Amino acid sequence: MYKSVTAVKLMEFQQLGDERGHLVVAECGKEIPFNVQRVFYIYGSDSTVIRGRHANKKSEFILVNVAGTSKVDVEDIYGAKKTYVLDHPHMGLYLPTMIWKNMYDFSKDSVLLCMSNQLYDGNEYIRNHDDFRALQREVKNGL
Ligand code: TYD
Repeated sequence: MYKSVTAVKLMEFQQLGDERGHLVVAECGKEIPFNVQRVFYIYGSDSTVIRGRHANKKSEFILVNVAGTSKVDVEDIYGAKKTYVLDHPHMGLYLPTMIWKNMYDFSKDSVLLCMSNQLYDGNEYIRNHDDFRALQREVKNGL
């Protein structure tokens, strides 16, 4: 059973700040609903760039704009779409498997932190939207 965009969740992490500044904690099994195997971050992309452009068969992600802002378009295997704005360092976007995602509209200072339950494996990426659309058709036709 593929996950739909309703399984994509905007999360609010607790801010443990005091007069010295803010602190956000993300622990596996608490704020993070999987064991983190991989962390990467995206920065230096300007407002004209679209990143992501893929769905993952095995990887789940949590995206956090730890600095700056960006937008994320998500699309599920059933054709439903939604857009999220990431504009606070204490907000995370949970993405389950098989969600097509485009990240875009990066502010100059954007640092988009990505955590995943999987090590990198290029074979579990669907990078061609036509392939994703073909899967959508198969699911629609009950294949
Ligand atoms: P890509 O998946 O296109 O980045 P994004 O989805 O953030 O736009 O990855 C860019 C390059 O980096 C590509 O050659 C694959 C490589 N890469 C890794 O080696 N490991 C990783 O964990 C990621 C995310 C990418």
